[in-house]
Amino acid sequence: MTAAPIDGRARAARLRAAVAREVAAFSARAGRPPGLAVVLVGEDPASSVYVRSKGKATAEAGMCGAEHRLPADTPEAELLALVDRLNADPVIDGILVQLPLPAHIDATHVTNRIDPDKDVDGFHPVNAGRLATGLPGFVPCTPLGCLMLLREARGDLSGLEAVVVGRSTIVGKPMAQLLLAESCTVTVAHSRTRDLAGHLARADIVVAAVGRARMIRGEWLKPGATVIDVGINRTEAGLVGDVDFPSASAVAGAITPVPGGVGPMTIACLLRNTLVSAGRREGVAIDETGF
Ligand code: GUN
Repeated sequence: MTAAPIDGRARAARLRAAVAREVAAFSARAGRPPGLAVVLVGEDPASSVYVRSKGKATAEAGMCGAEHRLPADTPEAELLALVDRLNADPVIDGILVQLPLPAHIDATHVTNRIDPDKDVDGFHPVNAGRLATGLPGFVPCTPLGCLMLLREARGDLSGLEAVVVGRSTIVGKPMAQLLLAESCTVTVAHSRTRDLAGHLARADIVVAAVGRARMIRGEWLKPGATVIDVGINRTEAGLVGDVDFPSASAVAGAITPVPGGVGPMTIACLLRNTLVSAGRREGVAIDETGF
């Protein structure tokens, strides 16, 4: 068998078009576009690239992007003061502080300072709690994008066996919560898991988010499984995922490529979350079909 590719670029383009249509409707009703503030501390090259592409995507969606670039030696108190100003700014609907932060700044202090109702990254503990208890809030963009790809590939996920490999706060844990809410039977595997292959052999859905190049082998998968690869690992052979693509695509039913799978969905979901935030804050109903 050769797995069907799951085209994240195409799904992300559709999502961004749907968001842009709703942004136009929102702006007409509210008298202003949705506003997203992106904060970058220091000059980490990868982060600079991400922040630039977030700014471009924001403008293309018809939103107002405010970029704040601070020097690497900015004191934590100064960054917290900027977050306070953005929390209080009525035309800012979403705040994103790009991670990682320089070592002298405690990222938890910063994340926890963002108003949960502007936390379009979904990293604030209030939003993690809302997700765990089924309340409306914000879901981190990467797992939200994965869920959209899974729904597209499999339709109804109810009753399926899902294995999430990785237990990070940003991907693994929220992914497990989302799959549980879809009525999957969810296993979260991690570095101490004893028999990963044994778990994967039963999985209809695999979400790989471990950050280890090509760690998951095709021989471990259940034939026909749907595989979502969150990994972005730079190797001598170029950019590769956490799944060994050649062997996995011989066994899986459908699989995301790296690049061109999950990656494009993350920014599209950030735009989606910002629009949803703007709608909630201004009391403007957003048509979420297509989201
Ligand atoms: N660094 C890498 N990905 C992300 C993300 O989605 N949000 C933030 N804030 N920082 C990141």
